[in-house]
Amino acid sequence: MSVLADRIRKMAESVEPEFIASSLRIPLDVVKGILSGEIPDEALNNYDPGRPPELRVVEKKRYVRNKVIGVYGPGGTGATTIAGILSYQIARQGKRVFAVDLNEFSALAPFLGIDCWAENAVKYPNLLWLSGDVRKLMIPALQNDLHVLPGAATVQKYHEVDWGKVQEGIADLISGCETLVLDLPNPFHLAARMFPNLDCLVLVIRNDLPGMYALWQIKPLLQEMLLKTYVVVNQSAGKAVPMVVKEVLNMTAGHIYLPYDPKLKFDVYSNAEFTGEVRDKLLPLLGYGEERGKKSLLSMILGGR
Ligand SMILES: Nc1ncnc2c1ncn2[C@@H]1O[C@H](COP(=O)(O)OP(=O)(O)OP(=O)(O)O)[C@@H](O)[C@H]1O
Ligand SMILES: [Mg+2]
Repeated sequence: MSVLADRIRKMAESVEPEFIASSLRIPLDVVKGILSGEIPDEALNNYDPGRPPELRVVEKKRYVRNKVIGVYGPGGTGATTIAGILSYQIARQGKRVFAVDLNEFSALAPFLGIDCWAENAVKYPNLLWLSGDVRKLMIPALQNDLHVLPGAATVQKYHEVDWGKVQEGIADLISGCETLVLDLPNPFHLAARMFPNLDCLVLVIRNDLPGMYALWQIKPLLQEMLLKTYVVVNQSAGKAVPMVVKEVLNMTAGHIYLPYDPKLKFDVYSNAEFTGEVRDKLLPLLGYGEERGKKSLLSMILGGR
């Protein structure tokens, strides 16, 4: 137990980690690590605000722990495909993942192997059920540690969704898993309601004129999310990106290109090649690539090798 760690947690109830870091003069990565539990409280025992050398070293290291990932696409760009593959691949790393479909046209759960298309939808909980102990609603997918909540069965049902309840439910789910993946709704104003909960936003666009233009159109609304935004240029045919779009890409936290895969099936378990691409390119960008970051950070703080 550390007084300083307790103070950080108390402050976090009302202010952002950035503010805690600057007012206590502790590196932001360390503040985030204490809040997420990745850094043990003891690491702050005998902490000297004059900043001991070990923590200065840590400050230079990039350490990202993305707890809540929102995946957004302006329409038909591959957002659900990417959200599903991300959930699957993060779960394969042994992390407990919840995936939630917030789309008007829901397809995430079937993509993850749940047979809840059409009439079968009534057999499963879905987005409209979000109240009470919401964790009980999560359906196990074929992959260990991966659970999913399907979206509304029909568009008519989707229009009955109570977004206040969804926000409460999402907040409740965050505490029950290591990674929550939200397949965000297409209307940007609905997706933006989830932004305060997100650690990062994966924006999926296509490398064609409408896709590039969509990125430019969204940019003013991203505001402070821009530094938490990772762009996936999907179905990229290797075409050059217009300069005006390149400038936007460079303002985000990072971007990758994924290929058009003519063999892609709408089933996460039968796309070895494409899921491999997502694993190798997108996961490292989001901080899930290797355990290296976590180990070196901890060992540096604890003084190990
Ligand atoms: N890289 C790719 N190569 C080939 N096909 C792809 C690729 N990415 C996605 N697709 C296909 O594009 C279609 C749309 O994908 P998906 O449903 O994931 O898009 P979306 O952005 O979630 O759409 P919506 O806006 O309707 O929610 C699917 O048939 C999917 O298999
Ligand atoms: Mg979708």
